[in-house]
Amino acid sequence: MAAALKFVFNPFATRRDVLILFCAENLKFGPASRRIVSRMGDGFHRAAAADRFTGKNGSSLDLIAPGGLDVPRLVVVGTGKHSALTSRDLTKLGGVAMGKLTKTTAAATIFAEMRSGALKADQVADLALGARLRGYSFDLYKTKRKEDEEQAPKRIELNFACSNPASAEKAWGRRAAIADGVVFARDLVNEPGNVLYPGEFARRASGLTKVGVGVEVLDVAAMRKLGMGALLGVGQGSAHEAKLVVMRWNGGKRGGDPVAFIGKGVCFDSGGLSIKPAQNMEDMKGDMAGAACVVGLIHALAARKAKVNAVGAIGLVENMPDGKAQRPGDIVKTMSGQTIEIINTDAEGRLVLADVLHYVNKRFKPKLMINLATLTGAIIVALGQEYAGLFCNDDKLAERLIEAGEATGERVWRMPLGPEYDKMIDSKFADMKNTGGRSGGAITAAQLLQRFVDKTPWAHLDIAGTGMGSPQNDINHSWGSGWGVRLLERLVEDHYER
Ligand code: BES
Ligand code: MN
Ligand code: ZN
Repeated sequence: MAAALKFVFNPFATRRDVLILFCAENLKFGPASRRIVSRMGDGFHRAAAADRFTGKNGSSLDLIAPGGLDVPRLVVVGTGKHSALTSRDLTKLGGVAMGKLTKTTAAATIFAEMRSGALKADQVADLALGARLRGYSFDLYKTKRKEDEEQAPKRIELNFACSNPASAEKAWGRRAAIADGVVFARDLVNEPGNVLYPGEFARRASGLTKVGVGVEVLDVAAMRKLGMGALLGVGQGSAHEAKLVVMRWNGGKRGGDPVAFIGKGVCFDSGGLSIKPAQNMEDMKGDMAGAACVVGLIHALAARKAKVNAVGAIGLVENMPDGKAQRPGDIVKTMSGQTIEIINTDAEGRLVLADVLHYVNKRFKPKLMINLATLTGAIIVALGQEYAGLFCNDDKLAERLIEAGEATGERVWRMPLGPEYDKMIDSKFADMKNTGGRSGGAITAAQLLQRFVDKTPWAHLDIAGTGMGSPQNDINHSWGSGWGVRLLERLVEDHYER
């Protein structure tokens, strides 16, 4: 459900089907919220006792037509024991609040006060960010409404009542840029492969010119000239031409080395001739989640005019079986000059990234490179779907990513790299092979990438588990999660803006 956000002072001066308040453990309210609740006499405490509601973090109490209050519905959301709520907590609570709206809610008012008192502008904006992310749904292809959705309004009015609406509105500007980036990424991941093939993906990425991003699209001929044999080998079995999109946002020092983000954009991964089993193959429309994140991130940085020079580069291909498709046993030459023997055509993401990483490193001399990829099923075996795998050749960068992950809730877990793993991808016939066998599958994939980054500080995020189909949570009910946009936006904000 789309929401129109507003920031207001008086919660009772808004249109509202529901008013949402927050309370801490043991039903401890902030001062203004307490006054509102006391208008119900003992009504609130009787309801809380009946429902055994104590204000535990993330829990909530629903009161219909509360006596003494001019609202059809009152929802109290628990914030738990802690006194100091972090930005991550507030984002989550905004999501919880949004999740309490019913299908018929047309207008809701969230009272932005916690036990500790009125929220600061940034904190109100964090609440709003969570609400906006939770409210996202992808229903572009639903032509019919279910019976219980017939009354549902198309758009809901979401009011945040706070002590300083003007400054909250301003703080929201920055969060709105992030939210738009996440939504952009989610939309891309959710789109089916017949709609979002490389050419269409490139067209949508080109839309970033509207926020001041420079966008270049390289076609197959251009990539052939550059010698990108690995990326082109993956794409050669598809009816859709491969594309390489380069996005540039220059908000930093003129001529300063950029930070670079690289994404795996396999618009559909059938496995190629090493074809995947039919079960769940439909999920492979999301094998471009890394690329989607890069586009969403560059959008967010540009829309909030981040003081950084950033490059985004995404390799867009479709991996299909065909008479022209690449074979197991083929040997391809990468742009770097190194050769790769194809053992399994389903280990295609690393082939795409090998060429894009080298290209970006050589052309832009970035001060760091971070790539995102739904690279291996093995990372899901290792970490499940809560943490992304982090592989990194630089301890400081790894530390910063882990920190940004804890701060945003998009968490990463560091995995090892090393020469013992590296030699597992040595090949009989070429410089390397594209798989190292079943054991340590996420690590050997990362080792291949590392052979294309030289000495540049680099991190690889394996988002196969987090980028799509991850468990729903308070701020995400979408299949495509848009994972990574908030993490990397935070990393840039904390460390790489002038
Ligand atoms: N895109 C897949 C990885 C994947 C699997 C992402 C499940 C999300 C969910 C990747 O291209 C792939 O097929 N990897 C193979 C590598 C193997 C052939 C060495 C894998 O993980 O099985
Ligand atoms: Mn694959
Ligand atoms: Zn893949």
